[in-house]
Amino acid sequence: MLDGSRTVNDVKTFLKPYIDVDPQQRMKLYDQWAEMYEQDCNLISYRAPNQTVDFLNANFSGSREEVLVLDVACGSGWVAKLMAELGFRNFVGVDGSKGMLEQAAKTGLYQDLRLALLGTEPLPAQTDGFDVVMIVGALRDGYVPVSVVRELCYAARPGGHICMSRGESGPTYKVCLEKELQLMEDEGLWTRVISQEMDRYMMDVYNNLKDQHDDQYLYGTMYLYRKALK
Ligand SMILES: C[S@@+](CC[C@H](N)C(=O)[O-])C[C@H]1O[C@@H](n2cnc3c(N)ncnc32)[C@H](O)[C@@H]1O
Repeated sequence: MLDGSRTVNDVKTFLKPYIDVDPQQRMKLYDQWAEMYEQDCNLISYRAPNQTVDFLNANFSGSREEVLVLDVACGSGWVAKLMAELGFRNFVGVDGSKGMLEQAAKTGLYQDLRLALLGTEPLPAQTDGFDVVMIVGALRDGYVPVSVVRELCYAARPGGHICMSRGESGPTYKVCLEKELQLMEDEGLWTRVISQEMDRYMMDVYNNLKDQHDDQYLYGTMYLYRKALK
């Protein structure tokens, strides 16, 4: 049920017990949060879906109506809703939270929705099967491990695009992620099309970066890769 009286502090209080939990526990958070997720995310200025979809749109020249999109960690379907406004039509979604997938199903946009806890279970996607692979809001500690990035690349068709964004969550994840992105490029799996910084990914609701900068917003980075042709 939507609750218009909810405040940023209510969201912070709700999220606090989940700061350092393992991925299984985190799925319980998202199951519980699913109905309020988008409303709460608007309260905390979560801008990653809009910024990442705009970033893809500005750098993608394929036929939006025809391409098949794999929306990884699709959550409530926010990314697909924004992409649909730009003419994308064909989506498959994957997420580890049943509750979030139920919300995604309500959008009516996905031809298939698949439950999988990534990092523990393999990405349920056919190799070379998708023109565009998206992951927004899930590349961070305690969410989707860096090792899954390789699976995202395998799921894209040769010449297909992989579009990722991540918010600041401490230095370790970023360093490991960027090392893996570069390693995959060195291995000839893909090439970077472009990357771009986001200065307002969302409010720092976990307050875990307060010693690193004064801004109450987290920074973020968006990456677009093109899978190598065989
Ligand atoms: C912040 S939400 C982002 C959802 C959507 N992409 C968006 O931007 O609104 C993070 C999503 O990642 C999912 N998630 C986190 N870790 C996961 C994992 N290891 N495997 C599958 N899904 C995961 C959560 O269930 C949640 O739906």
